[in-house]
Amino acid sequence: MTDISKSGTFTLGDRAVKRLGYGAMQLAGPGVFGPPKNRNGALAVLREALAAGIDHIDTSDFYGPHITNQLIREALHPYPDDLTIVTKIGAKRGADGSWNRAFSAEELTSAVHDNLRNLGVDALEVVNLRVMFSIHGPAEGSIAAPLTALAGLQRQGLVRHIGLSNVTAKQIAEGSGIAQIICVQNQYNLAHRDDDALIDDLAASGIAYVPFFPLGGFSPLQSTELSDVAARLGATPMQVALAWLLRRAPNILLIPGTSSVEHLRENLAAAELELPQDAMAMLGRIGTKEVSA
Ligand SMILES: NC(=O)c1ccc[n+]([C@@H]2O[C@H](COP(=O)([O-])OP(=O)(O)OC[C@H]3O[C@@H](n4cnc5c(N)ncnc54)[C@H](OP(=O)(O)O)[C@@H]3O)[C@@H](O)[C@H]2O)c1
Repeated sequence: MTDISKSGTFTLGDRAVKRLGYGAMQLAGPGVFGPPKNRNGALAVLREALAAGIDHIDTSDFYGPHITNQLIREALHPYPDDLTIVTKIGAKRGADGSWNRAFSAEELTSAVHDNLRNLGVDALEVVNLRVMFSIHGPAEGSIAAPLTALAGLQRQGLVRHIGLSNVTAKQIAEGSGIAQIICVQNQYNLAHRDDDALIDDLAASGIAYVPFFPLGGFSPLQSTELSDVAARLGATPMQVALAWLLRRAPNILLIPGTSSVEHLRENLAAAELELPQDAMAMLGRIGTKEVSA
């Protein structure tokens, strides 16, 4: 079995978590809506994640909705003391599966209570405010009102730590004046490098950066350069993509998603994959104009 502690640790709030974690979104049904096709398979992935040493799981009550958190509770409750479950609020699903902003104090309060109930906990360790000014990536707009509401829930003891998701540098600066921001979760991977400068700024401030879609999301990464490096190292492209993120910056925490135990094991082996400097250089060019992915 892979020793995932080889990925190192980073402090999230007041806990050190391993840099290789797990993202639970893929456990819901197609389109992250409704129940999974293979319920027992979903429970098995969660149990395997913990057995493999994972201590950081990313989720949301709007996955399903409710389904992913209920699966986590069924598979893993009572939770080990060292497991950090990170959730997110700020969206709600329409009856057609659409993703809609849910930013009022009332909606945010009810989302925190949904997460508490469905995860079966008295307090949420980390809650990301998922910003929804645009569904396709960060867009400017004040987050003062929803973040102030979330900070109020933190003062009540329902939320221990706060993060932000799908945000700009300006929103992180605004948010830091309202609450302590311990992590940022934005889209980032080998081929999607908009946050390069932001990652380095957050690293300098000790704030974790948690890329979503680390493997490309619903369209897993494909690139000749990635495949060539993987073949040369005797690894899979997904392992190389994750190993590149681990080397990209020390504050990056990985939450690759999968609904398959086999893919989970494959992904975790990235913790032990060494990338030589020339491979890093070649991979680094995928997301730039020199080579297109
Ligand atoms: N804050 C946000 O707005 C936001 C948005 C999206 C996601 N997230 C979080 O980020 C986590 C990661 O994102 P994600 O799960 O959407 O995308 P991802 O990790 O980039 O990729 C997941 C996709 O890759 C496939 N996959 C995984 N391992 C594989 C392997 N070894 N070989 C081949 N295919 C593989 C999965 O299919 P299989 O199931 O078949 O393995 C799935 O289709 C989510 O689970 C969620 O917790 C947050």
